[in-house]
Amino acid sequence: MAATTRTRTKKTAAKKRATRVAKRTPARKAAPAARKTAKKAVRTAQKRTAATKRTVKRTASKTVRKVAKATSPTRPNGTRPTGRRQDAIALLKQDHREVNALFKQFEQAGSGARAKKARLVESIIEALSRHAAIEELAFYPAVRREVAGSTSDVLESLEEHHVVKWLLSELDGLDPSAERFDAKVTVLIESVRHHVREEENELFPRVRARLGRERLLAIGDELRDAKPRVSTRPHPRGPDEPPANVLVAGAVGAIDRARKVGRQAVERVRDELPV
Ligand SMILES: [Fe+2]
Repeated sequence: MAATTRTRTKKTAAKKRATRVAKRTPARKAAPAARKTAKKAVRTAQKRTAATKRTVKRTASKTVRKVAKATSPTRPNGTRPTGRRQDAIALLKQDHREVNALFKQFEQAGSGARAKKARLVESIIEALSRHAAIEELAFYPAVRREVAGSTSDVLESLEEHHVVKWLLSELDGLDPSAERFDAKVTVLIESVRHHVREEENELFPRVRARLGRERLLAIGDELRDAKPRVSTRPHPRGPDEPPANVLVAGAVGAIDRARKVGRQAVERVRDELPV
């Protein structure tokens, strides 16, 4: 009996071993493939992380360089920008022509061209904000001081700028699909064209006659020097006359440009992220 029991026990143990081996065998065969897939997944994840890090690093250094350049009133070697001198009136008229070209593009864009219209409005906001800021910093104060009887014209111009800045601030960030987007731009264009007509037909001829070429060239230099450092966004509540606007101009301009560069950097990183 004892021998029979031992034999039965040995057979049972062998069966159990065979079952265990049978169970283990497919797993051992499958393991290399699973390990390979896992390694591949890890390598892909590592590559994506490295690519993301490179993108963020590259964009960050570009941003730092752009902010430094945008907020500096002079070039990296410390010199002022050079080029042909323009008298103040010629420079302001050139600005008027450039803004009017943007207006025309907006008017000619189809009703469905929302992305194009949004880009144009962004350019209009920047161009008009910059133009208004330099006029208020260097042109209007000189005219008010040096051209007899010009005060009421200058004050009217400042009020027209004020209205335009409110419209620009409402358009800043407004979705082009908004019901009033086109209507606001139309009113903006009408207001600016009215303002430009008055300046070019009434104020500028009187200023030219009174100040003369040399003085206008000197004011033109001031306008050109101010251009790269003034605000590029509308600030209807901000000061528009000296000394307050002179005191805040550089700081507000630097903040506006840094915000713009930062916003563009965030958009670029978002576009380049491997998803
Ligand atoms: Fe103006």
